[in-house]
This record gives sequence, structure tokens and C-alpha cells, in this order.
Amino acid sequence: MSDFNANFWSVWVAAITLAGIIGCAVLLWVTAKTKVPSHSDNTTGHVWDEDLSELNNPMPRWWMWLFVITIIFGLLYLVAYPGLGSYEGQLKWTTRGEHAAEMKQAEADLAPLYAQFTAKKVEDLAGDANAKAIGERLFMNNCAQCHGSDARGSKGFPSLADKDWLHGGTPDKIIETITKGRNGAMPPMAAAVGSADDVKNVANYVLSLSGAPHDSLRAQLGKPKFAACAACHGADGKGNQAVGAPNLADNTWLHGYGEQAIVNMINTGKTNVMPAQEAKLTEAQIRVLAAYVWGLSNIKSP
Ligand code: HEC
Ligand code: HEC
Repeated sequence: MSDFNANFWSVWVAAITLAGIIGCAVLLWVTAKTKVPSHSDNTTGHVWDEDLSELNNPMPRWWMWLFVITIIFGLLYLVAYPGLGSYEGQLKWTTRGEHAAEMKQAEADLAPLYAQFTAKKVEDLAGDANAKAIGERLFMNNCAQCHGSDARGSKGFPSLADKDWLHGGTPDKIIETITKGRNGAMPPMAAAVGSADDVKNVANYVLSLSGAPHDSLRAQLGKPKFAACAACHGADGKGNQAVGAPNLADNTWLHGYGEQAIVNMINTGKTNVMPAQEAKLTEAQIRVLAAYVWGLSNIKSP
């Protein structure tokens, strides 16, 4: 059925468009053909209000030719450009194609600038005012919606302006993160820990790691249960960048602070995705971005 319908609207639009143009041509032809009987004084013979009469002059030639040219232009335009339903036009012009061509041109224009950047180490690039300005703009357009315009993040979205890294803060790691994306996955752990009470105990042990207020008796009971967490967060709870497991012994909390937040984390786990940017940004753009991000926590702003 949809195959049968597929062309209908295209043909419908094309038919109306062509009918309009042909209609104009016919109108012109008919009016040119029709002779209004003229009187000897060159009036149509209509008389109003006793003495008003209508002259019967032909249309000016230039006006008529303008009409003809407009019709021909319309037809040629429809041959060259899209306009007749889904017919693409002989020039194959599309807004998408125009956009792609403009983007290609812009990339070509920027190539020498980026080539200059590629020659530099990321650490040096971070100090380059020009690269920093471009990095900041790229960040605003591509990253700020999640990490915040000051890059300080929010719940679930890590701050990129501190030295606390889930996946690593070296230029290479940052480039890898931006290019390939990251998947921070903590499985639900309640079953491995034990009862609801055990979960609460482990949560208090976790709180004790950073010196946060906690119930020390519960923390003591929870300590042995932390073995289930150590595989990812490390025996000391200081995290493991290889699996993106955060440091639980500091005061930075990605998913909320306090006993309840940690209990929730243990019970339900979390999958947190940093989307890969390699399809969206060029390698050179990613380098400039990585330099900008690296600079946020490694270069003191004046
Ligand atoms: C759709 C939201 C989103 C966008 C857009 C986004 N990010 Fe992320 N990003 C995240 C999340 C969520 C994480 C944390 C992943 C995790 O929990 O492991 C993250 C992690 C990161 C990390 C790793 C931080 C660490 O501590 O190791 C870096 C670096 C980063 N993003 C940079 C960027 C840059 C640069 C851009 C822009 C090109 C960007 N992100 C765009 C959501 C986003
Ligand atoms: C398989 C690896 C793995 C295990 C096992 C694991 N975690 Fe996690 N945990 C993670 C990852 C990865 C994250 C970060 C999720 C993200 O990127 O958003 C995380 C995040 C957390 C957070 C949030 C930290 C913050 O900054 O908000 C807490 C709390 C936590 N884990 C506690 C535990 C506890 C307690 C256990 C043991 C019962 C445990 N985890 C076991 C991988 C693990």
C-alpha cells in the first residue's frame, strides 16, 4: 500500500505547480487572442456616469514580454532545481549539499591553523591563547550541555575542572575519552553484599573512607563486606581509572553524597555514558578540546 502511495504527493505537487504555470501561459495567450470590438474613437463602448468611457489600448509589449520571460524562467528553474515534487533537478542542488560544501570550505580554511596546533604538544597547546579560545568555543557548542559552561559538571556529569579523574587526566587519556567515549558501569551490588542492613553497613564504611559523618559501629561491620567492591574501587577505596571506578575516599561525589545516595548506588548500580565524539569532531578539534580540558585543572588562570 505504501508503495502504491509513495509517489502520490510528489506527483500531486508537481501537477499543481505545472498546472499553475501552464494556466498563466494559457491566460496570456487567450487574452492576446481575444479582440475587444473597438469603436472608431478607440473606446470599448462602455459609458458610465454619463460621460466616463474606457479606452481600448493594447497591453504594453514590455509588460507582455516580462510575463513570457517569467514563465520561461519558472520552467527552466524547475528543470534545474528541486521544485517538482520529489524530482531532484538537473543541478542536484540540495540545502544539505550546500551545507556540506560550506563545511568543507571552512575546514579547508582552518586547516593551516589546525596544522600549527597539531605540531605542538597538548600541554603547550593548553597555554596557547588562540587554541584556548577555539577550545572554549568547541566546548560551549559540544560539551557544555552536559558538563556545564564552566566545566564543573553536575550530578552524574563529572567536573572537568578538578584533578579528580574517573578515567585519567593525562592528555592521552583525555583524547581517548573524547574520541571513543566512556561507559562508567557499576552493577547492582546488593546481592553480593547481603541483607539491607549489610548494605547500610558498607555505605557507612564508604563514608568513613573520606572522614564523612558516619556510624562507626556500622562502618566496622561493613568493612569486610567492602571486599565485594574492592575489585573495582580498590582495597583502599581509592578507585581504579582502568575501569572508571571513582575514588570513594575523597570528597568528590558524582552521584550524590551521604548514606542514602551510597545505599542507592549499591542497590541499583549505575550506567553512565560519555558519548564518543569521533563522528562529530575532527582529530584536530579533539586535540584542541583535550588541551582546553587539560588546561582547566593544570594551568592557573591569571
Ligand atoms: C550527553 C552528555 C555529554 C556530553 C555532550 C559530553 N560528555 Fe563528557 N562525560 C559525560 C558523562 C556522563 C561522563 C562520565 C562518564 C562516566 O561516568 O564514566 C563524561 C566524562 C567525560 C570525561 C572524563 C572525565 C573523567 O573524570 O575521567 C571527559 C574528559 C569528558 N567527558 C570530556 C567531554 C568533552 C570534551 C565533551 C565535548 C566534546 C564532552 N565530554 C561531552 C557526558 C557528556
Ligand atoms: C564492576 C565494578 C564495580 C564494583 C564491583 C563496584 N563498583 Fe561502585 N562504581 C563503579 C563505577 C564504574 C562507578 C562510576 C559509575 C559512573 O561512571 O557513573 C561506581 C560508582 C560508585 C559510587 C558513586 C561514587 C560517586 O562519586 O558518586 C559509589 C558510592 C560506589 N560505586 C560504591 C560501591 C560500593 C559500596 C561497592 C561494593 C558494594 C561498589 N561500588 C562496587 C564500579 C564498581
